[in-house]
Amino acid sequence: MKMKKLEQLYEGKAKKVFLTDDPDVLIVDYKDDATAFNGLKKGTISGKGVVNNRMTNVVFQMLEKKGVPTHYVKELSDRETAVKKVEIVPLEVIIRNVAAGSFSKKLGVEEGTKLLTPTLEFSYKNDELGDPFINSYYALALGLATQEEIDTITKYAFQINEELKAYFAQVNMELIDFKIEFGRFHGQIILADEVSPDTCRLWDMDTHEKLDKDRFRRDLGGVEDAYQEVFKRLGI
Ligand code: TMP
Repeated sequence: MKMKKLEQLYEGKAKKVFLTDDPDVLIVDYKDDATAFNGLKKGTISGKGVVNNRMTNVVFQMLEKKGVPTHYVKELSDRETAVKKVEIVPLEVIIRNVAAGSFSKKLGVEEGTKLLTPTLEFSYKNDELGDPFINSYYALALGLATQEEIDTITKYAFQINEELKAYFAQVNMELIDFKIEFGRFHGQIILADEVSPDTCRLWDMDTHEKLDKDRFRRDLGGVEDAYQEVFKRLGI
């Protein structure tokens, strides 16, 4: 099956999206561009697009095998993948296993504190508003998703957490937290967007070294090396 890449549909902060000759299929093209703090901080992480493309595809194929439907169709090149054209549910779904980032800041819990149970939170995916924290009642009240969709998203998100924790643990990485997005495809909720060091906090199990985008967000140095380390460990 040869997919024909047609005009660009839009360009996001980390990816470009193209139409194809199949109305159900888009092509995503991962960039090396990096932003943080809602686009306030801008930079380039050389090689990031390749790592995020490969990693997302390997992870999505693993999740499919475990029964989680995803938008993955076919990897086309180092940076390009054919995906199902979904309508994105405008919720950023964040799961946390260990306190870090905004959770630590907001609640005064030291980074690295293991949480007693995994947590789930939603942000309203809206750049103008800075992706504000909302709960499921807000999502329902604003018509962002139905109760049934929220239930499905919640079920998949916790399942994905268990699968990812086990997957990363095999290569000595601890999954601290991550953000995922879902889409609607012919009425079904499926996992969309990406799973990568941009969207996960991954720490070395022993040294707790950060192997993710926090190195960029916090100017810790060794940003490219961290992405390459994840790539190498996953053997992808
Ligand atoms: P936070 O602690 O800053 O709320 O981030 C939680 C997780 O979500 C972390 O793994 C990074 C990821 N994330 C994104 O993927 N995109 C974003 O815009 C933000 C703020 C966080």
